Amino acid sequence: MKRHKAIVPLSHDHYDGLFIAQSIKKNFIKTDLGLSSIEDKIKYVINAYNTELIPHFNHEEVILFPFAMGKDAELDKMINDILEEHDAIHKAVSKISEGNLEENLNEFGLLLESHIRKEERILFPKIEEILGDELSVLDGQIVAVKDSCGI
Ligand SMILES: [Fe+2]
Ligand SMILES: [Fe+2]
Repeated sequence: MKRHKAIVPLSHDHYDGLFIAQSIKKNFIKTDLGLSSIEDKIKYVINAYNTELIPHFNHEEVILFPFAMGKDAELDKMINDILEEHDAIHKAVSKISEGNLEENLNEFGLLLESHIRKEERILFPKIEEILGDELSVLDGQIVAVKDSCGI
């Protein structure tokens, strides 16, 4: 099913988010980003969190999820689970400089990747199924993070 126009910008962000997740996992070997040390990866992920992930979460939490809540019990449960994952991601970032740094980064990468895949494969299709063209009300309200702040 083709993504509804109103939430296409979130899927663009997800594409970029998967790249962030990949680049901090243990097996990342590309040097395009110049991430040659663990410290570089930490700086990169904290910057990406502040400039890309937080605005993206805000779009979901402030615009999409409130609009989608209260229409279907199963969807409400999915959204609540996704919100818990947002919390887990915030916690993982706040502890990223404590303990085993390489392991923290790897875990953060895995967490972010599975979160994005869950939204793309399960949550968004469910939102589209339940809301259908009601989503058009949100057309133009959500802008991809990289388009909105010129990253
Ligand atoms: Fe999310
Ligand atoms: Fe998302």
